Amino acid sequence: MADFQSPKGTRDFYPDQMALRRHVENIWRKASVDCGFDEIEGPTFEHLSLFTAKSGPGIVSELFSFRRAGGSDDYALRPEFTPTLARMAAARAGTLSVPTKWFAIPLHFRAERPQRGRLREFVQWNVDLLGSEGAAADCDVIACAALALERLGLKPTDVRFRLAHRGASAAVLTAAGVAGEHIGEAFELLDRRDKLSPEEFQTRAVKLGLDDAAQKRFAAIAGTKLPVSASMNDVAASLGVGADVLAPLAELSEKLNSLGLSDWCQWDFGIVRGLAYYTGTVFEVHECAGKERAIAGGGRYDGLVELFGGPKMPAIGFGMGDVVLGLVLADKGLLPKDGGQLLPRPDVFLISDGSDAAEKTLPKLVMQIRRAGLHARHSWKATKNVGKLLSDAGKCRARSALILGAEMAEGAVAIKDLDGGGQRVVPLEEVVATLLAMTGANTSTVSKHD
Ligand code: HAM
Repeated sequence: MADFQSPKGTRDFYPDQMALRRHVENIWRKASVDCGFDEIEGPTFEHLSLFTAKSGPGIVSELFSFRRAGGSDDYALRPEFTPTLARMAAARAGTLSVPTKWFAIPLHFRAERPQRGRLREFVQWNVDLLGSEGAAADCDVIACAALALERLGLKPTDVRFRLAHRGASAAVLTAAGVAGEHIGEAFELLDRRDKLSPEEFQTRAVKLGLDDAAQKRFAAIAGTKLPVSASMNDVAASLGVGADVLAPLAELSEKLNSLGLSDWCQWDFGIVRGLAYYTGTVFEVHECAGKERAIAGGGRYDGLVELFGGPKMPAIGFGMGDVVLGLVLADKGLLPKDGGQLLPRPDVFLISDGSDAAEKTLPKLVMQIRRAGLHARHSWKATKNVGKLLSDAGKCRARSALILGAEMAEGAVAIKDLDGGGQRVVPLEEVVATLLAMTGANTSTVSKHD
């Protein structure tokens, strides 16, 4: 028997669920545009080598990869957008403005074990700034993420940006006793520590040459969380390093403060990020009480554009998935329980009494109204008892009902205002103007339908 279920880890979006998805995506898109980012898109699948170039062949087990029947090229569905974006930047590097600010809202595919907050297909908002180094660029993308979260109704008491800097963290780990050649593995251990048993953690720590005292320091660093407004001397003292080592954090702290974002952010020296390409600032957004996985993650990847044949081009960005964000928003009551409430409301719902004149006029009128930029639906039934059909208008939350009934004999129709109440008879040739006036759409149909 064929399996007609949707594949594991994927979702069907019926209209009410699609409305919820679009609600979030619209806020992401508007925040990106308001912050000066331009939308881009790339292919859903890429040459497999784009994803193995930096991460190595180990990444393949996490991908949906394939070869065309009879072909010899290996492809993979994109698990993330950053390699595509870096490839696109490399190809046009000579013509890009500085900085270049891009965003995308693509679907991604990962061959994960589906679980809460983790699916095999998900939407991820990507915001990236290319061509500019330094804390101002880092904070520009962080500010965009914070703006969207704020517009979704979240507050700094709900979610927190946890920030670190790979350079500063490397210096802190060195001071804690990790030898230079083991820094990469130490980052990996930091990143995976919550997924390892205490025994596994200890075995790996010993391999890094950490004695008992150094392991304790390592664990203390991993657990160090401080406000970004804390003085750098205090941060340095709690990590056992000189403040000079934390210069990148000092710059970030100043910029975050000047953007009014300090409340949203904290230092977290347990954050290193698993992806191989990050070079400097790294961050994740988490629900404050630690519920769920990361809502978003990002960082600086100054070498990736060059890896794909472009010039040396610094870059910073983040990805925010719809799955964890949806769980957090639902938990905090920030999403309507019924996504149907977010579906676009028809400006008018046309009803016919079934007479020849009404049946002939209805399709013409529907087209005229739609050509004027209004959202028009109509009943697919016709009956003399138009009151019955009015409930269909109510079900789809139409703002008004237009009844092609007895008044058709005088070339007129009845328009019922379903929001404000009241009904009037309008000559057919005045219907469009009347509806435009009623919906306030006579100035700009575009902004009305944004
Ligand atoms: P990432 O940490 O792999 O980073 O993913 C970012 C976010 O995407 C996660 O925090 C999570 O919300 C969501 N996400 C990831 N995997 C899944 C999944 N299997 N199911 C549901 N949601 C998921 C990146 O992808 C980087 N490329 C982000 C970036 C952009 N860095 C710089 N620019």
